[in-house]
Amino acid sequence: MPPQQALPVKPDAGPGADACCHREVAGKRPRQPYRTTQDGSPRVQAMTQAGGADPSAVRLSQSRLWLETQSYYAEQGHQAWASGAIPFYLTNTPYLAAAYAELIAAWWHPAAGPGPYRILELGAGSGRFAYLLLQELAARFTSPTAWCYIASDGSQRTLDFLRAHPQLAPQFAAGQLELARTSPDRTGPIELQISGQMLAPGPAPVVVIANYVFDSLPQDCFVVRDGRLYECLLVEAPLTTANRQAPTPLPPRFELHQVAWNYYQDADLDLVLGRYRNGPDNRAILLPCMALRWLRQLRTQLGERLLLLVADKGYGEGQVGEVGAPTIEQHTPACASMMVNFDAIGTYVAAAGGTTLAWLPPAAPLGTVAYALDAGPHGDDRRREGLRQAFANAFIRRAPMDLFALVEQASRNPLALSLPALIGLLRLTRYDPTLFSNCFTTLLQGARQAPAVMRRDLLDCVREVWQRFYPIGANEPLAVQCGALLLEFGAPAEAAAILADAAAGPPPNPPAMFLLGRCLAAVGDKRAAHKHIAGALAIEPACEDYLCAVGILPHRMAQEEAAQLGWEIALDGLDRA
Ligand SMILES: C[S@@+](CC[C@H](N)C(=O)[O-])C[C@H]1O[C@@H](n2cnc3c(N)ncnc32)[C@H](O)[C@@H]1O
Repeated sequence: MPPQQALPVKPDAGPGADACCHREVAGKRPRQPYRTTQDGSPRVQAMTQAGGADPSAVRLSQSRLWLETQSYYAEQGHQAWASGAIPFYLTNTPYLAAAYAELIAAWWHPAAGPGPYRILELGAGSGRFAYLLLQELAARFTSPTAWCYIASDGSQRTLDFLRAHPQLAPQFAAGQLELARTSPDRTGPIELQISGQMLAPGPAPVVVIANYVFDSLPQDCFVVRDGRLYECLLVEAPLTTANRQAPTPLPPRFELHQVAWNYYQDADLDLVLGRYRNGPDNRAILLPCMALRWLRQLRTQLGERLLLLVADKGYGEGQVGEVGAPTIEQHTPACASMMVNFDAIGTYVAAAGGTTLAWLPPAAPLGTVAYALDAGPHGDDRRREGLRQAFANAFIRRAPMDLFALVEQASRNPLALSLPALIGLLRLTRYDPTLFSNCFTTLLQGARQAPAVMRRDLLDCVREVWQRFYPIGANEPLAVQCGALLLEFGAPAEAAAILADAAAGPPPNPPAMFLLGRCLAAVGDKRAAHKHIAGALAIEPACEDYLCAVGILPHRMAQEEAAQLGWEIALDGLDRA
């Protein structure tokens, strides 16, 4: 992090912000704003005008909140997502991956200049988005040496998870996927961990992806009133041994201090801040100082020709500012995020000669913005126009939040949809494994009654969904669900191939073992079938409960099937004797 700038604190007798009502901002699930009481009810907080400076009031960007968040990701690695603590559904969908691939294809028009083309994903997290986007890119760019995807993160533990992930192994082996440790405070050349090479600026434009990353980085907050600028300092609870070990955030209080408009003493950041000289008045305006510094640094590390694709919660031009104190979303006691002021980033990009394309429906939990910086001779109009059209197609015309609203509704009440409607929704989402999993029972029941042509459609769906599944170490039932449907469709060998990994674990998965046993019995491998069914029963005698509950099995039958297989194996032995 850059050194703290001298902070000109001048308590002012002028009007401060009024008492601010709580507003929960639609954002990443679960929404647990910082400002809640112990029982979770909203607490109305005042942003107070400082009479005298509270010694524990700090710049928001210097709050320990951010260090705790960074440490949380560093320590948790992929467990942050496997445990369900950190929301990640919306930024890891096949739809978003396909939409980004369209934008990248437009940006990498042959007029862009010679390759190889590079994509750098910041804060890649679980790697699920990288996995989905790699598939989309492979379908569009057939020359394997033409592009390389660099999944990067600030957490080495997270990168180690990606490196060991079996589903990424082919891309690592093909030299198409790299890993790198990146963060705003890691200046200098970016080191690629697989090849050991340094990532140097090249002739081709680079794509940078930052999904749910800028909301996790330090920001500052200001209020403007009658042309005067006030900084919102966060009054932090004193750091005690107890809350150092289990940092329990207290409801925060902000203090307003009048500051000068050249607050940062940094031409780029002061220019962005100056955009709000004429308001909006009395609103909490977030200034994504760390995201801006990171973007400036990336231009040095990667070259001036960048396409930055961001999916995050936030607001853009005409929507800037929260009514009341800024909302800090607390995902866990040690991990927080805030809204992203996309307009501020757009101001920096415009000053650098770039353009912004934004899709930010009001109150939507996710927006997408493309910032194109392409000052070189290749920044031709055809590429800009191609990018604009691809963006309009993927986001503005198709309105993916409408689609996600349908997915949410279907997931809550899958029985309300007919089988054809559900298959249609799966196609529209580009075969979203989460939707498939949530609506599995409806799919299974429908499959049993469906005409042959629809069963074929559903079979295609199962294969497409399975291709997009990227396990993250959580207890996800997709292998069992896909295996059960394939067995139902009379494809036991294909089902067995899907179930084998889930059955082997770790940890061992008795329902998958039992189902695998049934598939192996169907292909005639009685000994292996017996081994798996008896093994499942030995680990968990009630292993069929899940399979019965979702309708895969009509009743418990593992004991029966194990006994029958044992008997058949004995008879086969007699024949051979
Ligand atoms: C909310 S997660 C998003 C992960 C992924 N992009 C997604 O959408 O699921 C934020 C990611 O940014 C990384 N991150 C947070 N602060 C960072 C920092 N200061 N430097 C580098 N990475 C950081 C975390 O390690 C984490 O992987």
